[in-house]
Amino acid sequence: MPHSRFLGTGLAVPDRVVTNDELSRLMDTTDEWIRTRTGIQERRWVTEGETGVEMGRKATERALDMAGLAPADLDAIVYATSSPDHFAPGNGVYLQRVLGIATIPALDVRAQCSGFIYALSVADAWIRTGQFRNVLVVGSEIQSTGLELSTAGRHVAVIFADGAGAVVLGPGNEDGSGILAFDLHSEGAHAEKLWVDAPGSMYHPRVSHQQIDAGKQYLEMDGREVFRHAVVRMPESVRAVLSAAGQRVEELKLLLAHQANLRISEVVQKDLGLRDDQVYNNITRYGNTTAATIPILLDECVRAGRLRRGDLVVMTAFGSGFMWGSAAVRW
Ligand code: COA
Repeated sequence: MPHSRFLGTGLAVPDRVVTNDELSRLMDTTDEWIRTRTGIQERRWVTEGETGVEMGRKATERALDMAGLAPADLDAIVYATSSPDHFAPGNGVYLQRVLGIATIPALDVRAQCSGFIYALSVADAWIRTGQFRNVLVVGSEIQSTGLELSTAGRHVAVIFADGAGAVVLGPGNEDGSGILAFDLHSEGAHAEKLWVDAPGSMYHPRVSHQQIDAGKQYLEMDGREVFRHAVVRMPESVRAVLSAAGQRVEELKLLLAHQANLRISEVVQKDLGLRDDQVYNNITRYGNTTAATIPILLDECVRAGRLRRGDLVVMTAFGSGFMWGSAAVRW
């Protein structure tokens, strides 16, 4: 079966830059603490009226432009987000609507920080089996509206941020470029270590005043546990995906690791024995944008000339679920 390959990439982030100093006026934290523990210097947060779908649209238009395609050329949409504009329906159909595309399928994937890798695997399978030709894959998130902006929520609020990235995938050609392999996992035993409790359909009503007063609508995280698992699972998954693709770590041109925390990325780099020129991090400027992180990294690298046709790149992610996974790509 033919590989699927990347035809275009794009990103869109809110204009509003939120510095660590700005956060230190909302909660008991400091620029020094945030930089030292996470590497983050600033992040982007939406202002009222900006939506995930709108960011997804901007990123999509840039990816389509690079691919030399129009919205009407798309055959399907896979939209990764853990922060949809509404409880239902998913963001994919809203994106389809604003792009003005008729009745192509639009699927939402909820796999949090690993959402883009999972979404990519669905799009790749559709293309390989010949079911669809040009598939749009989007990762778009607004985390800032789900953060507790006080000292009680500081261990989470300083990390998460907003943004979107998109790629257009199409059938590969004879040069062998494209997606080589995936490695996907989840471990639900840790579901409550990084989660949002409410609203939820198990509650009557789905969210109560008591739950809101208790802050159950906020993203909650056991940071130490997430750190402990992430630094093991990401290198493990990178090795597995390279092995499945018949490639070696030494051959890697670039590792694009989910930007959860710069310290996590440093441990992953060291574990895999990668040089600085084999990794690319942008968490200093964007924070952790969940499912948007990997397509944002990808677009920056493509546009900066860090990735050229023929290069071996691995994308890897770990996050809520726990869910994690990697994709190996011959660019
Ligand atoms: N500013 C200042 N102090 C803070 C703080 C902040 N933003 N957040 C937490 N603290 C404090 C804690 O209250 C605690 O104080 P105490 O010792 O007086 O109780 C102290 O710092 C240490 O807290 P702890 O949570 O144990 O810190 P840590 O060393 O584990 O670092 C994280 C916290 C969140 C930076 C770290 O656990 C982490 O990065 N984990 C991974 C998170 C992640 O990647 N999430 C996304 C996955 S997709």
